Amino acid sequence: MRHQPIAAKTTRSSALSIVGLACAFLWSLDAQPAHAQPAKWKGDDTIFYQPSAECTQCHVLPLANYQPTTWAISTFAEYPIWKTHDKHAQAYAVLEGDRGQKIGESIWGADGKEIVKTQKGGCLNCHAMFDHAQEMIEKAKKPKTELDAFLKDGVSCGGCHGPSSKWKVPHSDPATWRAKKASEKEEMGMRDLRDPIKRGELCVSCHVGNVEEGKVVTHAMFAAGHPPLPPIEVSSFSRNLPQHWRDPQFVPYFKEKADDASVIENYHLQSMGFQRTRFALVGSVVALRETMKLARDQARAVKDDAARWPEIAMAHSDCYACHHELRAPSYRQARGFGYQLAGRDIIRTIPGRPIIRAWPLGLVQFSADFAEKPDQIGKLDGLLRGLAKATNVRPFGNPADIASDTDKVVAWCDELLAALNDPDPKKYNRDLAVQQMQKLCDLYAPNKAGPTPDFETARQIASVLKAMYEEVLLDKSGKSPTDERARQAMKETNDTFDVFEKSLDLLPFKKRAERTAIIMDMVRDKLMLKGENIPDAMDKFRTFAKNINVGDPAMLKGNAFLGPMLTGLSNDDFTAGLKDPKVVKALQDLSDQEEQDLLNAIRDYDPAAFKQQLQQFAKKLR
Ligand code: HEC
Ligand code: HEC
Ligand code: HEC
Ligand code: HEC
Ligand code: HEC
Repeated sequence: MRHQPIAAKTTRSSALSIVGLACAFLWSLDAQPAHAQPAKWKGDDTIFYQPSAECTQCHVLPLANYQPTTWAISTFAEYPIWKTHDKHAQAYAVLEGDRGQKIGESIWGADGKEIVKTQKGGCLNCHAMFDHAQEMIEKAKKPKTELDAFLKDGVSCGGCHGPSSKWKVPHSDPATWRAKKASEKEEMGMRDLRDPIKRGELCVSCHVGNVEEGKVVTHAMFAAGHPPLPPIEVSSFSRNLPQHWRDPQFVPYFKEKADDASVIENYHLQSMGFQRTRFALVGSVVALRETMKLARDQARAVKDDAARWPEIAMAHSDCYACHHELRAPSYRQARGFGYQLAGRDIIRTIPGRPIIRAWPLGLVQFSADFAEKPDQIGKLDGLLRGLAKATNVRPFGNPADIASDTDKVVAWCDELLAALNDPDPKKYNRDLAVQQMQKLCDLYAPNKAGPTPDFETARQIASVLKAMYEEVLLDKSGKSPTDERARQAMKETNDTFDVFEKSLDLLPFKKRAERTAIIMDMVRDKLMLKGENIPDAMDKFRTFAKNINVGDPAMLKGNAFLGPMLTGLSNDDFTAGLKDPKVVKALQDLSDQEEQDLLNAIRDYDPAAFKQQLQQFAKKLR
């Protein structure tokens, strides 16, 4: 993070006294995490989380009796994809790694190295399944010693899919399971991740924050070395985990049942060809709602203890209000300061005062249009004017007013979400998508007097357009695009968005391929795999995972690299492997490069160029 001495000096004298820091630091220790799962799961003693090792029996590789047509929802390679490709499997290990340890030490002194690995630090709420692990110990009456091994799962299968004790056995029988509605599965503990609102809430709880669930990256954590949390666009972040599932139009069973009303209902397959579009739009409104909720709940948590407020508020404020280069001319000065809705006058705040992180606002106009609720924007405009007023009272606003004004925006989002999440094919289709994308580009046309997107907003806009564009290209070929068509659409999309990729560093986790290579080698060594067939098996698996939509899982039958994972790769071995100094350094270098690339892109960002690029893109749509 580049640091501006002048900006820091003014802010420090007004907001960051030593006392303020000390109090906020205590506050972060006091914060008791609430619980992440609905009460019905809490209340039921037969429903509890299980470690990911419970899934290896089936989700490691397609077994000999695998038939694409009967076993067609899962690829059965989810576990190794998560373990070797997905950063969530490493989320615990980074706390024990150099950077995590240094963050702990900077905040808490010598004890900090331990604190990051205990509930006290709060890190485990996002980097592992702390709450869930404890619950498992209690409900399943397991020995306390298992807690540690479960934490090393990082963000585990159950962390996303829900507690599996009650559904683990029945869900593996397609004949009965497929007849169940998502709500029935949810009663048994399986989270409905095919619902865009529910998936959005889950991802955003850790990637933006959630006070109720004890998930907050404080400004002290950021300052101590935690990477800035970039805007999350649910569709592209899902893609780049990477996906361990296929988009529905590539799942054989869904293709076959594309006209079966009960299958469509049970798996939310309405508007099947535009699922990523729906996830992107709904996800962006969920992100707005959760950002406002974070501000609201932080404001409520400080009550009227004014001394604590500014530092706590910094964690949900626009980071780049304070952390940016001084420039002349400055696009910020030209743009003005405050909340902005595309195509409308900026809602002014006092220049120089940070506002709540505003990137999720960039797409609300677009989302409201899509939901056929364009008039709602006038109402939002009014609510944001109230929020701006509350902000102007004092820097970061008066906590009580901020809490009530953000709460109104939360309620506004709920209303829009209900309309936007309606999967009606009349809403989510090719013609409408193209027309709306054109309109969005027009909202940011260079000759318009309206406001100018900042870097984070621009990145969000381009990500959503990218997800939509690929689906628009695919839809040309009807309901079930061929593998060849899928490859072409992806290539064409990547080529078209290359210009945004370069200027906005669009792809989350873009050094994934390099990281995966390091981790796969580490896993190979831990499993002591030495046969001549191993390199070929590793290549096959990597090729499969790289573009999961078009790969045939059958090619993984008997895979010599995956087979040994059936008995699991113990979390202790995996974490120890990730702590090997050579591995640590290699991974850290990649993380540092990713962060540096992002910060450089932010520094070099030119909104006028972005608007031009949008126009070029709009021409392609015609
Ligand atoms: C005994 C084998 C077996 C085990 C163990 C198992 N699964 Fe599965 N799982 C399956 C089969 C088979 C399917 C495919 C069902 C179908 O095609 O309808 C499946 C499908 C799924 C699905 C999609 C289900 C849906 O309704 O959308 C999820 C999610 C899943 N498994 C997660 C897990 C997790 C997490 C674990 C570990 C806690 C696990 N599974 C353990 C066999 C298993
Ligand atoms: C609100 C949830 C949340 C909390 C609380 C949290 N983190 Fe994170 N952390 C994240 C997310 C999300 C990322 C990934 C950011 C990205 O997209 O690059 C991350 C990334 C990191 C990284 C970089 C990992 C890498 O691959 O380079 C480290 C190190 C880290 N966190 C340590 C900590 C420590 C130590 C704590 C506690 C003091 C903590 N985190 C608390 C969510 C959280
Ligand atoms: C970061 C969250 C996350 C984690 C961690 C995670 N999944 Fe998933 N998984 C998803 C999402 C999102 C989907 C797509 C929605 C769906 O199909 O239910 C999905 C889909 C699936 C499916 C269904 C495949 C299909 O085509 O619909 C299976 C099976 C599955 N996951 C198993 C696992 C297993 C096993 C693990 C652990 C090894 C795991 N997942 C870890 C988020 C996650
Ligand atoms: C329990 C908290 C949690 C949940 C839920 C969660 N994540 Fe994450 N996610 C993290 C943490 C922590 C990291 C960083 C791990 C690391 O770097 O070691 C991360 C990293 C990522 C990355 C890599 C980002 C980068 O630039 O390095 C992607 C992509 C991602 N998550 C997507 C998702 C999606 C999509 C969902 C929802 C389906 C989701 N996450 C749900 C905590 C979570
Ligand atoms: C009100 C202004 C303000 C806001 C908003 C703000 N910061 Fe800071 N930040 C500061 C000040 C002041 C320091 C202390 C600098 C020092 O001690 O040298 C700081 C320090 C930091 C540092 C350490 C930088 C270094 O290398 O010295 C990081 C990293 C950081 N902030 C990240 C963030 C992130 C991420 C956000 C958004 C979530 C954010 N900040 C929001 C003012 C702000």
